Amino acid sequence: MESGLLVSGLGVSVRDGGRILQGVSLEVRPSEICALMGPNGSGKSTLALTLAGHPRFRVDEGWIRLDGEDITRAEPEYRAKKGLFLAFQKQVEIPGLPIEDMIWEAYRARWTGEKRPSLIDFRKRLMAVSSGLGFGPELLRRGVNEGFSGGEGRKAELIQMLMLNPRVSVLDEIDSGLDVDSLRLVIQSLREYVKGGGSALVITHHPRLLSMLNPARVYVLIKGRLVEVGGQELAELVEREGFSRWGEVGDGQKSAERRSGV
Ligand SMILES: Nc1ncnc2c1ncn2[C@@H]1O[C@H](COP(=O)(O)OP(=O)(O)O)[C@@H](O)[C@H]1O
Ligand SMILES: [Mg+2]
Repeated sequence: MESGLLVSGLGVSVRDGGRILQGVSLEVRPSEICALMGPNGSGKSTLALTLAGHPRFRVDEGWIRLDGEDITRAEPEYRAKKGLFLAFQKQVEIPGLPIEDMIWEAYRARWTGEKRPSLIDFRKRLMAVSSGLGFGPELLRRGVNEGFSGGEGRKAELIQMLMLNPRVSVLDEIDSGLDVDSLRLVIQSLREYVKGGGSALVITHHPRLLSMLNPARVYVLIKGRLVEVGGQELAELVEREGFSRWGEVGDGQKSAERRSGV
């Protein structure tokens, strides 16, 4: 049986607007980490949001399959229940809803097995996962993303991912705002997650992160089209040369933006 995330010939437009993605095909198989790189505005977040079923974007052509099922037009909730998880680049604040309650709700809603673990077991595991990422228990009581620093916000997303244990995670710039030690913890948890059969599409500007994740494939997206697929050496090439070989102007301002992950 087909397993993993398969995307074929995807063309995406913004509702009431122009075309953003064209002919995008990629695959992320179980236990694989794949990477998506590209300059600012090339369409990386659009692809992530389209995979998750964001209503802002319309699929004009092509399809998305998860474990053999066509989910191109499925509701976001259905995709999530099937095991697709998206960590947003831009996080939404939900003051008053503690993060641990939100994760518990998502966990309950998505549970498909026989006997759902109790709230007590859930809390135990949540504590273990959070402390593994250096995320203090007091932060779990805080409203979702309420006054979180950049790094805390990224870790909160990772905690959701590790608790929900989705089949495929799309992580949009998960490394931005993380200090060196936090980055190491994030990499460790990602590795454990894929060892357990999960898989991830990691969107990043940082080849160093990728060298530690050993991606199965690196995809380069330019102006809404995938222009190249390769291994880790492709990420290193981007580190050295930027995106100039694909006709992108590598002026100082743009490459500085890329480095800071804007
Ligand atoms: N809601 C929208 N309306 C119009 N254009 C949009 C919208 N969302 C994204 N875009 C455009 O789509 C292009 C790709 O954006 P995005 O996917 O955020 O790029 P990336 O994540 O690679 O930086 C950009 O030119 C952006 O301005
Ligand atoms: Mg983006």
